[in-house]
Amino acid sequence: MPVTIVIGSQWGDEGKGKIVDLLSDQVDIVARYQGGANAGHTICWGDETFVLHLVPSGIFHEGVTCVIGNGVVLDPVAVLDEIRMIRELGYEVEGRLLISHNAHLIMPYHKRIEAAREQARDAGAIGTTGRGIGPAYVDKFARTGIRVVDLLDRDVLREKLRVAIEEKNAILRSIYGAEELDVEAIIEEYVEFDQLIDPYVTDTTEYLCHALQEGKHILAEGAQGALLDVDFGTYPFVTSSHPTAGGCCTGLGVPPTAVRRSIGIVKAYCTRVGNGPFPTELHDETGERLRRVGHEFGATTGRPRRCGWLDLVALRYTSMVNGFTDYAITKLDVLTGLDEIKVCVRYRYDGKETTRFPAEVQTLSRVEPVYESLPGWKEDITGAERVEDLPAAAQRYLQFIAGYTGVDISLVSTGPKREQTIHGAGVRIRAAV
Ligand code: IMP
Repeated sequence: MPVTIVIGSQWGDEGKGKIVDLLSDQVDIVARYQGGANAGHTICWGDETFVLHLVPSGIFHEGVTCVIGNGVVLDPVAVLDEIRMIRELGYEVEGRLLISHNAHLIMPYHKRIEAAREQARDAGAIGTTGRGIGPAYVDKFARTGIRVVDLLDRDVLREKLRVAIEEKNAILRSIYGAEELDVEAIIEEYVEFDQLIDPYVTDTTEYLCHALQEGKHILAEGAQGALLDVDFGTYPFVTSSHPTAGGCCTGLGVPPTAVRRSIGIVKAYCTRVGNGPFPTELHDETGERLRRVGHEFGATTGRPRRCGWLDLVALRYTSMVNGFTDYAITKLDVLTGLDEIKVCVRYRYDGKETTRFPAEVQTLSRVEPVYESLPGWKEDITGAERVEDLPAAAQRYLQFIAGYTGVDISLVSTGPKREQTIHGAGVRIRAAV
């Protein structure tokens, strides 16, 4: 059986948590392949709302095994807190959550270095989530990182931590003039994690590849969004990993030939947190309205998200890079009530129009969006069960997205709750040929 990948097609916060939660009913394993506690996946059940940062949302589905893959950077304090919260909600975690022994760890010094670096960048700051993601990946690729497996051996951990913290203290002191970290206090805190984390640690690559041979279905969950990918996103205003499809193979160790489906999660408009170019950003009442109605505040940091119209130039680009087989459109209900809905179909740059997405920020920050205007709708769509139940203007909007990008729509979310979803038959909106 295959691997299905779920990827945010924009700058993150497309509503992947709800979609992964829904699809979890159809799979055996949900596996997270990159990022860390910078992600925030929100799930609404009835009146209850949960936010998960590291553990895949499949954990709330009996019979589903969740995996945190080698491509993730794991904050042991954050994951242990999350495990405690899930247990308190009445769900068994042991035996159902597997953490890769090869995943790298986020340590307190990663957060401190990140904070110092962001402060030093001043106006050029990336606007990170402050979770230590970038510095942890730097250590991974500099081959100086500490991995989950190291947590299980107190002597090895002590030695590696001492070397790492002394080096980081030198950087904090001499480059940033920042306060140093207490070597012994960190060592004493982290050596205690061995027994707590041990029940979850395993060779997840071997587990996943055996599962594939046994015919199991894996849902690979990306965090952040394709436009935050360190290679394909709006560098340097990106995260430090690969949310795009390729990251699934390197972040889990599953072969590319096992991937059968790549679902792009597309919010019906665009948002972005942190800094960096955003061609369709709205600085007016409509942008405010999208933020208010869409509750566009970060699930991890609480920061207000920047809001704007749907950018189809960017979406076509991320569809190309990720080979999206189909889209799940989210938050369509947030557009209800607008007289007109704009979608960006081209960029204007240096007097010329183009449909190419220039990921380099020098160009992207200078493009002007060229919009197509579509009619809005006033009817409440949150109870729609089939696409045909939607107002004609909403159907036309969906058709426009599929037609422009050449990707079918297999699911439409019309509200935060599980039942506010149009899926299955009747929702196949054909892309124009
Ligand atoms: P970092 O991942 O914390 O290093 O932040 C790098 C950039 O990615 C910043 O612009 C963050 O706001 C953004 N970012 C990181 N995680 C998320 C997410 O889960 N959703 C949306 N943006 C994110």
